[in-house]
Amino acid sequence: MKHDPQLAVEMRHIVKRFPGVVANDRVTFSARKGEVHALLGENGAGKSTLMNILSGLYHPDEGDIYVDGRPVVFHSPRDAIRAGIGMVHQHFMLVPSQSVAENVVLGLREVGLTLNPRRIEAEVQRLGEQYGLPVDPRAKVWQLSVGEQQRVEIVKMLYRGARILILDEPTAVLTPQEAEQLFRTLRAMTAEGKTVIFISHKLDEVLSIADRITVLRGGRTVATVEAAGMTKVELARLMVGREVLFHVEKPPARPRGARLVMRDVRALDDKGIPALRGVSLTVRAGEIVAIAGVAGNGQRELAEVVCGLRPVVAGEIEVDGRPLANASPLEAIRAGVAYIPEDRTGTGTAPNLSVAENLALKGYRVPPIGGRFFLNVATMYAQARELVARFDIATPSVHVPARKLSGGNLQKLILAREVARDPRLIVAAYPTRGLDVGATESVRQLLIRERDAGAAVLLISEDLDEIFMLADRIAVMYEGRIVGEMPAEEADLETVGLLMAGEQGVAHEETGTTTHGA
Ligand SMILES: Nc1ncnc2c1ncn2[C@@H]1O[C@H](COP(=O)(O)OP(=O)(O)OP(=O)(O)O)[C@@H](O)[C@H]1O
Ligand SMILES: [Mg+2]
Repeated sequence: MKHDPQLAVEMRHIVKRFPGVVANDRVTFSARKGEVHALLGENGAGKSTLMNILSGLYHPDEGDIYVDGRPVVFHSPRDAIRAGIGMVHQHFMLVPSQSVAENVVLGLREVGLTLNPRRIEAEVQRLGEQYGLPVDPRAKVWQLSVGEQQRVEIVKMLYRGARILILDEPTAVLTPQEAEQLFRTLRAMTAEGKTVIFISHKLDEVLSIADRITVLRGGRTVATVEAAGMTKVELARLMVGREVLFHVEKPPARPRGARLVMRDVRALDDKGIPALRGVSLTVRAGEIVAIAGVAGNGQRELAEVVCGLRPVVAGEIEVDGRPLANASPLEAIRAGVAYIPEDRTGTGTAPNLSVAENLALKGYRVPPIGGRFFLNVATMYAQARELVARFDIATPSVHVPARKLSGGNLQKLILAREVARDPRLIVAAYPTRGLDVGATESVRQLLIRERDAGAAVLLISEDLDEIFMLADRIAVMYEGRIVGEMPAEEADLETVGLLMAGEQGVAHEETGTTTHGA
């Protein structure tokens, strides 16, 4: 085949098998110089696998890769970076105890480069300025927000001379403002002729940033299209092979008594700084209360104090009248609290345990799985198989370690486990983050079903579309306080947006909506 000089990289007939799955089944993919190329597909479609191959992390079983028209074979990410290809992973790979500059040069020492710390810091600074990626080279990685850590990952790749940058769901963990900033950076890179390959489930975003789009389904290439002229509906149809509705059926809520009651709760964040500054909130059985807010305004801490994962400094928390402030996670579980955390691989699952074990993580102390002296293993596997089928979790079997699941399927596993216990209160933090359109739809339906079955749902989300779709009441958090609370049917995007941005004193007196705080 003749080489097209516009192409930066070309992958032909790539096959990658894992035990029990063909993750990539003769995939063909190519990206041009100077373009943003989005890679779309359902959870488990094979996107991360394909890019892990392109970045040298995995070796394909079959197929060829060409960079600038020349065939290449990568044995490690180092080989790929030498060819100008760098990847920022779905789960970051930085060393928390080291500084930004140290992380940027990590692994380069072995290559025999002599490194002058001041020069590195200056170069990190310069790259940051050139591409709009402000980072303090001397800060320790553990001190950085997720968005800042991502910038470090990108700077690290630029420092190594990447001309082709792969980003695996880069905006899943970003605030809308951080995502905007990232897009400006990507534009600055493509303007210089660099290539950006970008995996995302957010179709609006893909349509606005991508030049071309490749869709994978079941490990195969379905289509490569120009972004201009495509619609969300068409993309969704290519991805899942059926119509996807972008709204959910939601009957009016029929709330009952108060289930979760928080009174003037105060708590500190990991750095010891006040994160909850007097939060009072009630969630009734049979309703969904959404916490809207830009990440980092206390939402994580709010979820954690309710789930027994973070002590409170002051205030009361009750579930069905049972005191839970400073309770243990086990006490929270016994009170019927289910938690869908934002951090899926740390708090959410045990990556090295099997799918079945992860599904049983919260049930192993009680019958039918937990016995007096031993676990009822047969029941555990039977239950796991039933949950895998009911929640449509893509996995070769219930015996594989959870870390082998794709990002979206890991999230489904957590949901299955939490909801299977008939929870009284569901605390759901960013429950559809990283999920494909089909899975997002089913998670949203599931939360509504649980509500209608009588559960109280506390939903934490940054996605205002999601909040308006699901919430019966909306509370806005800003700097550790609830700065506004209103029934969803009386809320409008502008009011909520302003409150999220910290604009005070917005009140709808005519509707009786109140705002308080600060
Ligand atoms: N290291 C591995 N070992 C075994 N199976 C794997 C491994 N990595 C991926 N798989 C399997 O390969 C398939 C494709 O996974 P991949 O992570 O590429 O999907 P994805 O398109 O990135 O999905 P998501 O949108 O959920 O991140 C899945 O069935 C997954 O379980
Ligand atoms: Mg993936």
